Formats: sequence, structure tokens, C-alpha cells
Amino acid sequence: MIKLMKSTFYKEEKTKKALADFILQAEMLSMGAECKEFERRFAEKQGRKYALFVSSGSMANLVLLQALLNIGRLKRGDRVAVSSLTWATNIMPVLQLGLVPVAIDCEKETLNVSVKTLEKADGTDIKAIFLTNVLGFSDDMSAIKKWAERNGTIFLEDNCESLGSKMHGTLLGNFGLASTFSTYVGHHFSTIEGGMICTDDEELHDMLLMVRAHGWDRNLAEEKQKKLRDIHGVDDFFAKYTFYDLAYNARPTEINGFLGNEQIQYWDEIVAKREDNFRRFQEAAALNDDLLPLEVDHMEVVSNFAMPVICKTQELFELYRKKFSDAQVEIRPIIAGDMTKQPFYKKYVGEAAEECENARFIHEQGFYFPNNSELTEEEVQLLVSLLGKK
Ligand SMILES: Cc1ncc(COP(=O)(O)O)c(C=O)c1O
Repeated sequence: MIKLMKSTFYKEEKTKKALADFILQAEMLSMGAECKEFERRFAEKQGRKYALFVSSGSMANLVLLQALLNIGRLKRGDRVAVSSLTWATNIMPVLQLGLVPVAIDCEKETLNVSVKTLEKADGTDIKAIFLTNVLGFSDDMSAIKKWAERNGTIFLEDNCESLGSKMHGTLLGNFGLASTFSTYVGHHFSTIEGGMICTDDEELHDMLLMVRAHGWDRNLAEEKQKKLRDIHGVDDFFAKYTFYDLAYNARPTEINGFLGNEQIQYWDEIVAKREDNFRRFQEAAALNDDLLPLEVDHMEVVSNFAMPVICKTQELFELYRKKFSDAQVEIRPIIAGDMTKQPFYKKYVGEAAEECENARFIHEQGFYFPNNSELTEEEVQLLVSLLGKK
């Protein structure tokens, strides 16, 4: 069986041994120096001023939106455009925080939202766009960035599936005001559970520090603590338990931080392997006219999360699904399909006025198969052969 996730970690044995040693000698396992160091290295690698480590990619999305509400850049009731083809917890925080999701269809060829699909949607008065970079792909991010700037719209990227992908010389995750990442098992590299929020914005980062942990000021720089305490007339004793704004406990542990520091050294190696595998899959798929071709010419690096197979007809979909399953390859739907058709979306938003046709098409006629940095040459060859015409 070729499984989507082969192991918990890249270099599993070495990493587990190092983790066991770390736990035995560590004095403290709650958030501390390891997490801080992982943030420093992640920010450096991603080329962003700040990176904030949290307990999951889902919490990264929730914490980010809460922080934007707390600093007044969003307010309850604001309309937030989201990708219709995405993961549930890219959209759920929008609902949970009293914002209004506006689902935007994707392009069939890129699997992602484009300026065209943004403009087609009932696009007036959108305060923020929070778009997922799906499976390592993106549409023209420079154009979306310009669109957001032109419209005075906050641009956020859920980059949980696309660490290391690059276009126009820029890593995905660096086009908007802020971006989120997941380090859950099976993502590009794993800290078991974990997520990251990246930004260059100091005010936002300060609020993220508070939203991650209870709304207190403990994780802020000293001069910022002093400023807050002065404004609120709080002395240093009572500051310990003063809570300034709405928050969560989304802290990671030192175990996650340690793993992050172990795994981040393989960032380039992991991205290169996923990219290499993807190019071989893409070449094979392009020769097969049963399948819809993917458009990636605008991207310099496709740090593919899993390989999508989108069939031109329903019959072909059934055929290829069986072909991959019979060959013992684990396959799954292309993330959550058209999110507006999911039960939670209908419950809280109601029936969408307009169909997200392309997301629906991809959901009904597509699946993905594994691409990870531990696929063997034999497995890659088998997957390439399965992409051949039936
Ligand atoms: C696009 C996207 N956003 C958010 C998440 C949530 O990340 P996590 O599993 O770390 O909570 C995922 C998970 O796969 C995802 O694919």
C-alpha cells in the first residue's frame, strides 16, 4: 500500500531518538526556548520578520483572525472572501468569530482562486480575503495582491499545504499581510501537531502574542508591557493576571518546538523531493487526454502536498479511482470539495445563492494520491505508470 503518510517524521528513527534524549534531559516541556528558536528559524527561512508558533494550523487561522479583530482591522459582520475549495478550518474561524464568509470559486486549471473568480463573486465590500494555496499550487498571486491593494482589502494566505512553493521569486505565504502554516503529520514537515503564523507587521505580531496565550502581556517585550500597564493602570503584581483582550490558549510545547528545530533542517531537501516527484507526475498526466491538465507554468517551485488527478468525465473518474485503489494506492477527495456544500456551511450560512461550479467539478471528478518526501523510486514509477491512459 502506498500511503499518504509514511511516517510521523522525515528521518523518523533519528528524530525519535533525538526526541527521547531531549525529553530525558529537559527541565521544562511547556513553551520555552525551543519554540522561540523554531520561530526564529522559521521566520528566517520563510523570509518574514515574525513567525509565531501555535498548537495547530487550525488554531493559527483562528488566532490570526482574532488578532485582526482585536486590533480593529476587522470587525464583526465584515465580509471575508475564502476559497470554496479548501479545508474546513480555513472557513470555520470566520464563522466562529462573527465574520461573514463569501465563498470564491477556483480555476479548474490551478485549483485556486484567481482575480477572475474573485471579481465574478458578489465581491463588493469585502474587507479581507483569506485564501488557501491548495496542494502546493496557486493562481497568479501577484495579481491577487494588486487586486487586494487596489480594493483596500486585507490579504491573508492559508499556506498550510504549500510550504516552499514559489512564484514570481516569492515564496507562497509572503504575498499577503500574514500567512498560516501547519506542521501536522503528513504536512511538509511535522512537529506532530503545530502551526505557524508569519507576518512583517509589528502591531499584528504583538497582538498574536497575546491571543496565543490568555490575552495577558507576559510574552510581549518589556517596553510594550510597560506601555500597556500604564494605559490600564495596572501594577507589575496584578499584571500577572490581567487579561487585555480576547484570546485562547494555543501554545505549543517544547516537544513540538524541539521537533521543529530538528525537522526544519530538512526544509530544502523535502521541498526538492516533492517538487521532483511532482514534475514527473505532471509530465505523465500531461500526456493523458483523459485528465484535465494542471497549469503551473507561472510557478517556479511547486512544493506539492499531494498529486491531484482530475478526470474529464464521471466515467473516467470511476475508472481511474478503481485503477489507483486496485494498485493499493491510498487516494482521497481533493480536500473538502466545494465548501458551500458541506453540512456545517449549510447549517450556519445556508444554501449558497451561486454554485461554485469549478470546485464542485473538482470534487466530483477528482482525487489525490500521495506525494511525499519518502516515496521510493519504485513507488514513483508505479504512480507515473498509473497516470498513463487507461
Ligand atoms: C488548507 C489547510 N488549512 C488548515 C489546515 C489545518 O491544519 P491542522 O491540521 O494543523 O490544524 C489544513 C490541514 O490539513 C489545511 O489543509
